[in-house]
Amino acid sequence: MVEKLRERIAALKKERNAVILAHYYTLPEVQAVADFLGDSLALSIKAQTVEEQVILFAGVHFMAETAKVLCPEKRVLIPCPEAGCSLAESCPVAEFAAFKAKYPDHKVVSYVNTTVGIKALTDICCTSSNALQVVQSIPEDQPLIFAPDRNLGSYIQKLTGRKNMVLWDGACLVHERFSLAGVQALKRQYPQARVIVHPECRAEVVAEADFAGSTAAMLTYCEQSEADTFIVVTEAGILAELEKRMPQKHFIAAPTIEGNEPCNMCQDMKLVTLEKIVETLEKMSPEIELDEETRRRAERSIRNMIAIK
Ligand code: 13P
Ligand code: SF4
Repeated sequence: MVEKLRERIAALKKERNAVILAHYYTLPEVQAVADFLGDSLALSIKAQTVEEQVILFAGVHFMAETAKVLCPEKRVLIPCPEAGCSLAESCPVAEFAAFKAKYPDHKVVSYVNTTVGIKALTDICCTSSNALQVVQSIPEDQPLIFAPDRNLGSYIQKLTGRKNMVLWDGACLVHERFSLAGVQALKRQYPQARVIVHPECRAEVVAEADFAGSTAAMLTYCEQSEADTFIVVTEAGILAELEKRMPQKHFIAAPTIEGNEPCNMCQDMKLVTLEKIVETLEKMSPEIELDEETRRRAERSIRNMIAIK
């Protein structure tokens, strides 16, 4: 069955001149059919250089939107338009516009996990891979609004010592749920293990990390580390790629406050299935469509980010 779906996807990709981009948090079988697998930053960069006329985005809605912002002339298909992101949803446009109006001399740095409407109100986007470089690229005396992730924002504030940074109070409900007591118990059980944590987690959990960084940075850290056991404090979809790249190493998924699976997974990312990919390529729908003025303003903030990388 899976083999048949894979063959059908391969045939449809040729027929439609399509490429599949997928985030590391999608299902392992979806990751396996991707032409390019990446974290948020790598996927944004890749989207603007693909040659195919059609991009099928296996991920959540804001990721496909970002691809469309960067490639307005291409068709960007999204197998599950209902796949949202709690972090993007924690920052509605009208409320954010009112918040921004209170700080007229602040520049806005927004995480790419936002809707196109928020990106249009942003001066420069960032991802968890480059948030530090983005903030450091802005003169120290320039006050900033950082949105929408308060955890990533306070982590960057701590690293830079920057005081003039106002944080929007948003969060990712998946990363917020990792349990401090659970991580500490695993550390006692595996004293040789290295702890890797995504900075979308709460500050007290990030404080337990040997390494904190984006999905791609975690992969690189594990590859370069001499350690052979890692406690992984992020969305469990990354385990497929960690285990594929390093079959000799041991990866332990950290528990959430409710326990483990499926709470350490982003259910929205798991909505994308092979069946849905086939159906989307067959129908060439659903497709991302954007208001041109909003797209153009959002593009500026994403391109400002890519220029820094
Ligand atoms: P990165 O892909 O930047 O690591 O972000 C993780 C995430 O939560 C994506 O939605
Ligand atoms: Fe959004 Fe969190 Fe899911 Fe990433 S893991 S897509 S930030 S809800």
